[in-house]
Amino acid sequence: ALERTFSIIKPDATRRNITGKVLSYIEGAGLRVIAQKRIHMSKAQAEGFYAVHKERPFFGELVEFMISGPVVVQVLEGENAIAKYREVMGATNPANAAQGTIRKDLAESIEANTVHGSDAPETAAQEIAYFFKDDEIVG
Ligand code: CMP
Repeated sequence: ALERTFSIIKPDATRRNITGKVLSYIEGAGLRVIAQKRIHMSKAQAEGFYAVHKERPFFGELVEFMISGPVVVQVLEGENAIAKYREVMGATNPANAAQGTIRKDLAESIEANTVHGSDAPETAAQEIAYFFKDDEIVG
């Protein structure tokens, strides 16, 4: 089915000026960018986005990393976009990611892992609505 998923190109990628390289993996997989903006998240915004992880030991570090520089937030559309993007991203820990994935090829560490992608249709809808108004999405 035609799906939408939410993506973040993280601060390690904006710092290294490789957002275009990341985008080439996304578009190379047949996913279309139907909304995109560069933002610097506030602490409250990052804490809210990652609220599901707030009891995890790495929560504080994760939030600090995500506000350490600008990010690019995106809505991606395509056939089976959620699973397809997770496949292109590779495993959370780049050490476990398959060859040819964004995280294997580009990520620095489990924290500075270059990209975020939604894990299910419900979270995709929530995450898209967290950052984008309907009229900012142009499919
Ligand atoms: P993301 O898909 O954005 O969702 C939660 C993030 O937490 C994850 O990517 C990783 O960047 C980060 N993360 C997961 N596990 C760890 C960990 N053990 N240490 C630090 N960060 C982690």
